[in-house]
Amino acid sequence: LFSLTAAFAVRLSGTKYGCGIGGCGACTVMISTYEPTSKKIMHYPANSCLLPICSLHSSAVTTVEGVGSTKTRVHPIQERLAKCHGSQCGFCTPGMVMSMYALLRNHPEPSMEQITAALDGNLCRCTGYRPIIDTYKSFTGETACCQLRGTGQCCLDKEDVCSSSDKGNQMHSGLCNPEEFQPVDPTQEFIFPPELMRMAQEQQKRTLVFRGERTTWISPTNLRELLELKAMYPKAPLIVGNTSVGLEMKRDGVHHPVFIHPTRIPDLHVVSNTNNGLVIGAACSLAQLRDILMKVVPELPEEKTKIFRALLQQLKTLAGEQIRSLASLGGHIVSRGSTWDLNPVLAVGNSVLSLASKDGTRQIPLNDQFLAGYENADLKPKEIIVSVFIPYSKKDDFVSAFRQAERRRNAVSVVNSGMRVLFKPNTDIIMDMNILYGGTGPITVSARKSCQRLIGRQWNEQMLDEACKLVLGEISLSPSAPGGKVEYRRTLLVSFLFKFYLEVLYGLNKMVSAKFPDLSKKNLSALGAFHSEVPQGMQTYQDVDPVQPPQDPVGRPIMHQSGVKHATGEAVYCNDIRAVDEELFLAVVTSSRAHAKIVTIDVSEALKVPGVVDVVTAEDVPGKNGTDDEQAYAKDEVICVGQIVCAVVAESAVQAKQGVEKMKIEYEDLEPILTIEDAIKHNSYFGKEKKIEQGNIEEGFKSADEIIEGEIHIGGQEHFYLETNSVLVVPRGEDNEMDVHVSTQDAARVQVIQISSTLNVQSSKIMCHTKRVGGAFGGKITKPAIFAVVAAVAANKTGRPIRFTLERDEDMLITGGRHPFFGKYKVGFTNDGRITAADIEPYINAGCTLDDSEMVIEYVVLKTDNAYKIPNLRIRGRACKTNLPSNTAFRGFGFPQSGLFTESWITTVATQTGLPQEKIREINMYKEVNLTPFKEELDATNLVKCWKECMEKSEYYSRKTAVEEFNKQNYWKKKGIAIIPMKFSVGFNATQYHQAAALVHIYTDGSVLVTHGGIELGQGIHTKMLQIASRELKVPLSYVHFCETSTITVPNAIVTAGSIGSDVNGKAVQNACQILRKRLEPIINKNPEGKWEDWITEAYDQSVSLSATGYFRGYMVNMNWDTGEGQAFPYFVFGAACSEVEIDCLTGDHKNIRTDIVMDACFSINPAVDIGQIEGAFVQGVGLYTMEEIKFSPEGEQYTLGPDTYKIPAVCDIPEQFRVYLLPNSRNPIAIYSAKGIGEAGLFLGCSVFFAIWDAVAAVRKERGLTGTFTLNSPLTIERIRMACADNFTEMVMVF
Ligand SMILES: Cc1cc2nc3c(=O)[nH]c(=O)nc-3n(C[C@H](O)[C@H](O)[C@H](O)COP(=O)(O)OP(=O)(O)OC[C@H]3O[C@@H](n4cnc5c(N)ncnc54)[C@H](O)[C@@H]3O)c2cc1C
Ligand code: FES
Ligand code: FES
Repeated sequence: LFSLTAAFAVRLSGTKYGCGIGGCGACTVMISTYEPTSKKIMHYPANSCLLPICSLHSSAVTTVEGVGSTKTRVHPIQERLAKCHGSQCGFCTPGMVMSMYALLRNHPEPSMEQITAALDGNLCRCTGYRPIIDTYKSFTGETACCQLRGTGQCCLDKEDVCSSSDKGNQMHSGLCNPEEFQPVDPTQEFIFPPELMRMAQEQQKRTLVFRGERTTWISPTNLRELLELKAMYPKAPLIVGNTSVGLEMKRDGVHHPVFIHPTRIPDLHVVSNTNNGLVIGAACSLAQLRDILMKVVPELPEEKTKIFRALLQQLKTLAGEQIRSLASLGGHIVSRGSTWDLNPVLAVGNSVLSLASKDGTRQIPLNDQFLAGYENADLKPKEIIVSVFIPYSKKDDFVSAFRQAERRRNAVSVVNSGMRVLFKPNTDIIMDMNILYGGTGPITVSARKSCQRLIGRQWNEQMLDEACKLVLGEISLSPSAPGGKVEYRRTLLVSFLFKFYLEVLYGLNKMVSAKFPDLSKKNLSALGAFHSEVPQGMQTYQDVDPVQPPQDPVGRPIMHQSGVKHATGEAVYCNDIRAVDEELFLAVVTSSRAHAKIVTIDVSEALKVPGVVDVVTAEDVPGKNGTDDEQAYAKDEVICVGQIVCAVVAESAVQAKQGVEKMKIEYEDLEPILTIEDAIKHNSYFGKEKKIEQGNIEEGFKSADEIIEGEIHIGGQEHFYLETNSVLVVPRGEDNEMDVHVSTQDAARVQVIQISSTLNVQSSKIMCHTKRVGGAFGGKITKPAIFAVVAAVAANKTGRPIRFTLERDEDMLITGGRHPFFGKYKVGFTNDGRITAADIEPYINAGCTLDDSEMVIEYVVLKTDNAYKIPNLRIRGRACKTNLPSNTAFRGFGFPQSGLFTESWITTVATQTGLPQEKIREINMYKEVNLTPFKEELDATNLVKCWKECMEKSEYYSRKTAVEEFNKQNYWKKKGIAIIPMKFSVGFNATQYHQAAALVHIYTDGSVLVTHGGIELGQGIHTKMLQIASRELKVPLSYVHFCETSTITVPNAIVTAGSIGSDVNGKAVQNACQILRKRLEPIINKNPEGKWEDWITEAYDQSVSLSATGYFRGYMVNMNWDTGEGQAFPYFVFGAACSEVEIDCLTGDHKNIRTDIVMDACFSINPAVDIGQIEGAFVQGVGLYTMEEIKFSPEGEQYTLGPDTYKIPAVCDIPEQFRVYLLPNSRNPIAIYSAKGIGEAGLFLGCSVFFAIWDAVAAVRKERGLTGTFTLNSPLTIERIRMACADNFTEMVMVF
């Protein structure tokens, strides 16, 4: 019966599966229903992964295919998203389209607030959201420009932005042309199918029953029938939104033989206004509740709507729009998760539940006892909630709601609260008070006793002080409470209480200003949560030379080659490949121990599961079991939780998973090493120490005025590509040949290093294909080869095709991520801020196998200097061997950690000297031509230029003054600003990793097929390659096509990574095209007026080969680790970013106000692609440094395994002003067309947000008298920010 995504076996693959638990929005579809009584059609977005198919009877489901397609008509949403560069890998794109489509169906000209709310539930890991927001802005009827109107810098004010650069081509702003957009034509939208209207009408009186093998679904038509069913099946859940029951079933394997679906019963949809309040039917969705309250609130006197407004505040940020549209009020109340946000507010508001059963009706209060599930306060098994009464508030009532989550939107609260106080009329004497908290334990709890003790007290500071102590005493949170963050959660209890205290004082003053004093200026700043402004972007780049022929696409912001197909859902990813005859599905059994001996593997029960065909173990591997470093199937011993032990293959994916559940593995535990500190203690490392040294470290320290020492921890990061790992292995049946379709960055590794040696088959018989990858970020370099080999062994054993797609939690469990980092420093400096010496010891947690960790620690060491010339510098790095899942490559490859580490001690030097941070950075920055610590020449001219431009563009100094002024006025909110320079080294430190090949065919009709070794990960590599081929062959872009990356066409291709994919493959494509053009030259010269097609025909007639391979040997680099010297990198990318933030000192929340990035991208082959990379990487960096936190149990088991527990940035997290500026007139002679690879560089610049927060925290601490240096670890989460803003509440938490 579950879920709709399973139904996509009907070949509608546009709807994507990203998480399966309602958290990512990739599976969004639009549901339309017809309500026969009101004759209304409703449209709403929904997560298809949680939609039971039976619930859709007589509803219309629109998937992305129904919105538009290249075969019929591309819808304006799809077209604009593609033209505005709103897709990169494209995996999130259908979901984005559907969320917007559902909104447009209900609101043809939506407001920006509605648009951002509609996108709350959609995650994108690639774009950084800015282009998506820009696309959708064009539907508001507001300005269709770069959206900076009103800021004085609108792109339509051409004279402002399209200015001439110093000595070159014009600067250009904006990446798409709104004038090209098709108009929206609502008459073209599909109409609700009349047959479904008829069906809904006819079936109004018919009970619907669907029977499956294990489950029965019953949908009654009236309340009487519903109550009879509930009496008959008291344990059957009432399924409305399925957002709670569905998760339990998926996560905990709960099985229900009967479901009752009550949504057709009018009594459960009632909405009525009584004299005392609102009655809302229990089946009303949370989105409907929000809309009702939004309508009612302005119509009623303010004093009556305090509870409604508190509810609205929660409803605006609770979950995403898809979940809000599905989840029901009744389901929310009954499932009563401890962090559900409405229940504390409904309870303090004295809401009443109207219950019904076969035996009659009754009413019960929705209070703390109900929420605790006390028997005499709860529903009886045969009862249901019909409706909920939410009373009007009274004149002397004050009601507030609070929630703080790890992300402002689409994240469940860490702690939430509803608070209410009722005063004796016209006084501030407490007559009644009620406070409930969620998130402190398994249920929502009341501070009932504390409230009772405060009755009769005056609303003043003494009362607040006592209230805080009482609450801390009453609401217990043991130090080992599940979910951790105990101190933080306790601090929130009293911080919320303080906010409530002030809100009430403010309200009292507003009511009777003569009687109650004004809030002090200091305290006013505590009021109000952050309001997100609509993000505004500006992208500025140098236009192409005016003499460049218009048909030459190089240097222009050409749309992603697959942009339209992403938006229509036609783009094919690995798991979209249609079912192959006789294919089997594979699911893996992973280790539950961090370090243990495998004693036995019992497959007998698994083999009995219907549909299970076989179980595959290490014994079935014909050749080498994986690589020297990493086994494909664990043999004898497991070395981390999540290691693959064996695989179950079955006729269906569900059966394979059922088989996995029946597998029994016995272990004998061994001592694990989990942390870097543990590894250092046990001397547990991979490889040798990596060291570079320049100058004389001892002398350097002697010449310092001061020396500081410290440490910093930087957490790891999950790749969280939207497409999980996926592979389809198809044996060809002859000569051991196999086709392997795989989502990878490195097809040759899959083919040669893994499958060929594991199966003992020559590489020439293994054909790997990759059409496109739904995001990778370094995470699909080494790991996909393991999944491919696991599947290939199964295919070899069974002789049948094997499909293996990982669930989100499996992918996060098995694959590892960015290396957690620990660094120790000792830094000497003079009083005027010159750093004289630095002794640096970086460590990374490599996990259980080497993978790419040796290279990562090398890069950490090589890149530690970032933008600074430290005359005496020693860096000694180690990769620690532990029993965590093996960490791997991740965008930036060590630099995001080492760079942050360096900037942290630079910041500490600033604090210690009392000099501004930017001064320390400027004084120590590389200038002009220099040598790096490993003696590579470095021209820092553009580094200084980026820094200066960034200073200027961001108006750094005037904004810094404004920030300081703001901070003087606001005690409880603080702003911070930081500017960070960057030197990023591109590529690999070995020449052979830069080689590339291409194969270009020209067909006799003149069309061109380009193939090269690079893989499309969303970074637009193929778009750039087509641009290059178009320029070199001098044919229009429309003549050139790219099909797939394959080991058949281009052998031995290097991994697509290190920011050099487009550089090196571009050179190879250029080479092939130039060879072809040269061959054609005599023919062209003979007939210069001829057409391309004529020349090709002539060439064919003359037997001129129309196919050529192109080759690029690679950039010459060498690094000698024995001497610690060499040319380690082909070239450097420079940049600078300035960010401004505001923090809430009481909750730890922050918002990103503005970011200005200046990047030295040199001549950009495609500014839209490059700016997209910069923005996307920057937002990924913001995630790394401020919110993404991986948590492990003390036994080494990862807790954060999905979008519910691991938060990547969402729309609400991007800077409200986001400006990217490509430095003009810059050249990179060694690269193709003088371009630079900037796929990774932008990520590090996300740390400008980290240091802006640091600046804000420093302002808080200074004001509170906490002078001296302090350390902030990464990620700088709400918890870390709040706890660093020490105040009397944090102190109170320590004492009570
Ligand atoms: C991705 C995601 C994000 C979320 N984020 C948030 C968040 O930020 N804040 C928040 O507060 N919540 C959040 N939630 C939780 C959400 O609010 C609840 O899951 C939802 O309200 C439950 O409603 P439902 O209709 O889907 O319940 P269902 O799953 O359909 O049912 C839940 C339970 O309620 C019972 N039930 C339903 N209706 C009745 C009735 N009329 N009478 C008696 N019993 C009834 C059922 O028997 C069942 O036991 C999130 C959930 C998801 C999946
Ligand atoms: S797959 Fe449904 S929300 Fe992620
Ligand atoms: S484009 Fe959004 S996840 Fe890749």
